Amino acid sequence: MSKYIVEDTRKVTTHRLIEMKRKGEKIAMLTAYDYTMASIIDGAGVDIILVGDSASNVMAGNVTTLPITLDQMIYHAKSVVRGVKRALVVADMPFGTYQVNADEAVKNAIRIMKETHADAIKLEGGEEILPSVRKILDAGIPIMGHLGLTPQSINKFGTYGVRAKDEAEAAKLCKDALLLQEAGCFALVLEKIPATLGTKVAQSLEIPVIGIGAGGGVDGQVLVCTDMLGMTADFTPRFLRRYADLNTIISDAVGNYVNDVKSSDFPNEKEQY
Ligand code: KIV
Repeated sequence: MSKYIVEDTRKVTTHRLIEMKRKGEKIAMLTAYDYTMASIIDGAGVDIILVGDSASNVMAGNVTTLPITLDQMIYHAKSVVRGVKRALVVADMPFGTYQVNADEAVKNAIRIMKETHADAIKLEGGEEILPSVRKILDAGIPIMGHLGLTPQSINKFGTYGVRAKDEAEAAKLCKDALLLQEAGCFALVLEKIPATLGTKVAQSLEIPVIGIGAGGGVDGQVLVCTDMLGMTADFTPRFLRRYADLNTIISDAVGNYVNDVKSSDFPNEKEQY
């Protein structure tokens, strides 16, 4: 497979993403949590790198995203930023850091921006978090919204099933999307909703809508890097396309290494001083 050739090598900005939507140019976004993965992903031409709170699951092995702390997210975001030259870096605000009140939210958002040098932050929710959204935007911090399946609310939802299948929830999602755009968010993630709803929201907004399980009618796509690289073998949602089978590649490589060490094949004469 050939490597994607990046024509515009300038740093991606929030303004350029809105321009991409106007031109009908699709936006490619992936998560990353560490320096090495971020530098590979950035070099391969991704437009946005999300330091997702999915780090709680895929890096730390937690069942949900809820336990990850602000300090841990800052550590991951700092590591990612060091590896990125071109992509816009967005850091998730973890659960509990923006829901209490707007003053606490802006304080925590400022900490993320100051300590990590990320370009923007992402928050989950609509109308109920608008005071925090407004206060953070007033501080000059760009925000990406996140609606649909919002994993920080998993204990309220009860399942990771498709959201907004009924009319009332779909109507609330459309209203929230508009409120987030009107407040000044530069983009919106829609997770696990019917494709027709994803298309409708993308067509009704001027800001880019990035989908994960929201169909092909949105302005861009996001996947968790460890999922699309086939490292998380037991995670198989319908929306996931695997571009590699790193689980097999890594375990074969490690198995070969173990064999070579145990049989004294490694290191050979050329591999020592
Ligand atoms: O944390 C994350 O990885 C996310 C994506 C699924 C959008 O929020």
